[in-house]
Amino acid sequence: MNNSFENRERPDEATVFALREIVRRHGTPAYAFDVRRLVAQVEKLRSYLPPEVELLYSLKANASLGICDVLADCGIGADVASAGEFATALEAGFPANRIFVAGPFKLPETIARLHNTPEAIVSIDSPSELQRLSDVHAPNSAVLRLRPDFGSCAVVPAGSESRFGFTCDDLQRCRDFLPSCNVDVIGFHVFAGSQVLDADKLNEHLRRALDLSLRAAETLAIEPTYINLGGGFGIPYAADGEELDLARVGDELASLVARAAPARIVLELGRYFVAEAGWYLTSVVGHQTFQGRPAVIVDGGVHQRADMCGLHLRKKQCPPLVLNADSSTLTPTDVLGCLSLPDDVMLEASPLPKLSSGDILAFGNAGAYGMWSSPAIFHGSPLPAEAAFDGAEIHLMRERKPAQSILEDQLHVVTKTAPAPA
Ligand SMILES: Cc1ncc(COP(=O)(O)O)c(C=O)c1O
Repeated sequence: MNNSFENRERPDEATVFALREIVRRHGTPAYAFDVRRLVAQVEKLRSYLPPEVELLYSLKANASLGICDVLADCGIGADVASAGEFATALEAGFPANRIFVAGPFKLPETIARLHNTPEAIVSIDSPSELQRLSDVHAPNSAVLRLRPDFGSCAVVPAGSESRFGFTCDDLQRCRDFLPSCNVDVIGFHVFAGSQVLDADKLNEHLRRALDLSLRAAETLAIEPTYINLGGGFGIPYAADGEELDLARVGDELASLVARAAPARIVLELGRYFVAEAGWYLTSVVGHQTFQGRPAVIVDGGVHQRADMCGLHLRKKQCPPLVLNADSSTLTPTDVLGCLSLPDDVMLEASPLPKLSSGDILAFGNAGAYGMWSSPAIFHGSPLPAEAAFDGAEIHLMRERKPAQSILEDQLHVVTKTAPAPA
C-alpha cells in the first residue's frame, strides 16, 4: 500500500484494513466512520475542559443515526436544529433534558415535539419567535440567542454581521414583555462561527459571548442559569495544519465558568467531534489532464462533500490515502469528481502515486458537513453507503442505493402507458 499522508499521522493498519473491508463489502462511493476516533474526541475534550462545562453534539455537522448512537453513549447532549434532528437525537438515546433545540424558526413539527419533550431546552432566535412560543405555550425552558456584537474570526463566520439572534435593541424592546409572557427564559445562547483553529481567537469568542450574555441578563433583569457559548472548535484540514491548543481553551473556560456561576456553561460542537473520524471512499474510474497536470476522475464528487466547497479544501487538504496503488513516485495530480460541473474538482496538484482505474482514494477528515450538508441528489445521484468501524468490526449504517432508487417516492405528472409487448 502506498500512503501519501506525508506530514500527518499515518492511519494505523487496523484503520486501513477496515477501510478496505468497507469498500469490499459496500463499494464506492461510501463514507466510513471510525467509532474509536469519535469516542477519543469526546475523551480528549473532557480531559482538557473543566468538568463543569457541558458538551452538546451539534447534529448539523452529521446527523447519521449511527454516529449519534455513539456520541449519545459517550454521555454528551445534543444540539438540534430541525424536527428531523430532534427525532434522531431522541432515537439515538440522548437524554431529553440534554437536548437543545435551536434554529431560526421552529416549524410546527418541531413545536409539536417540544410539547412532547418538555425537558428539552429551546433556543429562541428572535422577538417574533418569543411571541410565537409564548402563544403556543411551549412548556420548555428557554434561552435567547444573542447576535454577537463583535466580529468573528471563524473561517465560517457568524459575528455581528450574522442574521441570527436578538440584537441589543431587540432585548430592550422585549424587556417589558418577558415577565408576562408564557416562556421561562433561563439564559442565553451565542454562536460566533465555525472552524476556529487559533486558541487565542477562540478564547476571545468565548469571552465576548459570556460578556454579551451577562450584559443581556442585566438588560432583562434576570439571573441566568444556562449559558451556551457556542464553540466553533476547528480541526486542521491542511497537511501542515496545527491542532487547536485545547489546554489554552481549557484555561480560559475555567475562568469563564467561575465568572458565569451559578449559571452553567454549555458548548455546542459539531465539527470537532466528527470531522476527523470520517473517511470518504472513492474509486478511480478514469483519467484526464487538467491544466497540464495528470488528473484522475473518481466515482464521487463535491455533491457528497459540501465541506470541500465551504472551506475551499481542494487546494489545501491532505492528499487522500491511496489504498492499493503500487508506485511510490509522487506526481502532482488533480482529482476530479464525476459531475458535469466545472467546480467538481476535489483536489488540485496533490502529490499522488500513478493511479489506475479501480484504485481507491480515501479522503480523511471528511466526517463533518460532508454528505449531510450536500446537494446530494444532484445529477440524480443515489446516496452513498455509510458504514462505521470499531477496530475490525464493521457496521453498515446505510446501504448504497442503486441508480434506480432515485425514482422511489416520485409520482408521474403525465400518465404513461406501458409499451406494448414486442
Ligand atoms: C448555531 C450553530 N451551532 C453550532 C454549530 C456547529 O459548529 P461546529 O461544527 O463548528 O462545531 C453551528 C455550525 O454552523 C451553528 O450554526
